[in-house]
Amino acid sequence: MQARRDFLRQIVPAGALGAVGFKTDWLERVASASAGAADRPAADIAADENYWRDIQQAFTLDRTIINLNNGYTCPSPRVVHEALKRYLDISNQAPIHYMWNLLEPNIETVRRKLAAEAGCDPEELAITRNASEGLQIAQLGIDLQAGDEVVTTDQDYGRMLDTWDQRVRRDRIKVTKISFPVPTTNISELTGRIQQAVTPKTKVIHICHITNLTGQLFPVRDIARMARSKGIKTIVDGAHAFAHFPFALRDLEVDYYGTSLHKWLLAPVGTGFLYVRRENIEHTWPLTPAAASKSKDIRKFEEVGTHPAANHNAIAEALAFHQAIGVERKAARLRYLSDRWITRVEKLPRVKILNSRLPDQAWGLSNVSLEGIDVSKAYDFLWTKYRIITAAIKRTDYQGLRVTPNVYTTLEEVDTFAAAIEDLLKNPPSTAA
Ligand SMILES: Cc1ncc(COP(=O)(O)O)c(C=O)c1O
Repeated sequence: MQARRDFLRQIVPAGALGAVGFKTDWLERVASASAGAADRPAADIAADENYWRDIQQAFTLDRTIINLNNGYTCPSPRVVHEALKRYLDISNQAPIHYMWNLLEPNIETVRRKLAAEAGCDPEELAITRNASEGLQIAQLGIDLQAGDEVVTTDQDYGRMLDTWDQRVRRDRIKVTKISFPVPTTNISELTGRIQQAVTPKTKVIHICHITNLTGQLFPVRDIARMARSKGIKTIVDGAHAFAHFPFALRDLEVDYYGTSLHKWLLAPVGTGFLYVRRENIEHTWPLTPAAASKSKDIRKFEEVGTHPAANHNAIAEALAFHQAIGVERKAARLRYLSDRWITRVEKLPRVKILNSRLPDQAWGLSNVSLEGIDVSKAYDFLWTKYRIITAAIKRTDYQGLRVTPNVYTTLEEVDTFAAAIEDLLKNPPSTAA
């Protein structure tokens, strides 16, 4: 914490704070706001609208809609989007020279900065185009024989489950999907459920860090330790975790960790990373084959052919923006925004909150179930009457509206959402299920 304060003070001299309102450099404005707040606890800043105003204005948004589905992919702040466009323009002057010779090598800077933020060695981090690609490298790249088993959950991401199902069809492995109630607040129960599904043939455990459906948090390190003690590899889907709440990869002790960067890091669409524990690199086949000479090199997972350098290089700008806020402040603000609407609606009849309400188990991804109201109808009501975008989650075991604000979301927007839910409960759509 002291190091962050010193860093912020270095880049923003105290006397510069008064000039904040006149600055046009958005990254500097955010850093200025953070420097001014450096001595205050994150929970205190979470409720300071002066602090968040500069951050809200660092985006070019359509404020005639209320976007509470940032879990799909979040808009990038202006500085990130401008970097993306700048790199595209530079590339197009002569891609062979500007993109390939000049911009592409700077992926190494991005790798170094990303690894420092994620808490791993840069030589264990491959930059991918999204979480799907990263996770599929692991899922399809581990050697498995017919009869080998994988344990996962029935609330893991659909594409990742489809990937395992393809291996069932192609390689005749067996996949066991455990179920669990939401929310599960005693998260050690999840370790128990996974452990019960493990057999001597289990080779891989695949879980989410937090799920995309209700934000259910998994005790990743406990599961990874249990797995390692049995010689089982762990693949963790961190699509919704990285840059959302604080953690360091090295503390999780997992074998593979894949994430998107266009969700909570606010990087351009088409960015992600895969962490591969060093000892596994050589034994994991890349999705897009690379030369044998690269078999121990993390870069073998990036051999995807010609691709834009702009997207992955602009990750550096997204990291700078993220670090100017600081992940602790960001997590606290996301929790504050979620708490604000949840405390207003959770006591109402027919409302059930499907995410944990415990501190350190939920931040900016929540899910509200409205008993007796079909979730698709609820979604349509919010969009048609209020221009609010949420995500309708419809499953056989539960249904609910997933709500994901982000750092640019205003209190007025979450209050409008809470009022819209009250309205929806008073005036339910006529064809309620
Ligand atoms: C839990 C989870 N895993 C994986 C993915 C895939 O991410 P991407 O679309 O960035 O590949 C998503 C996307 O929403 C997700 O929510």
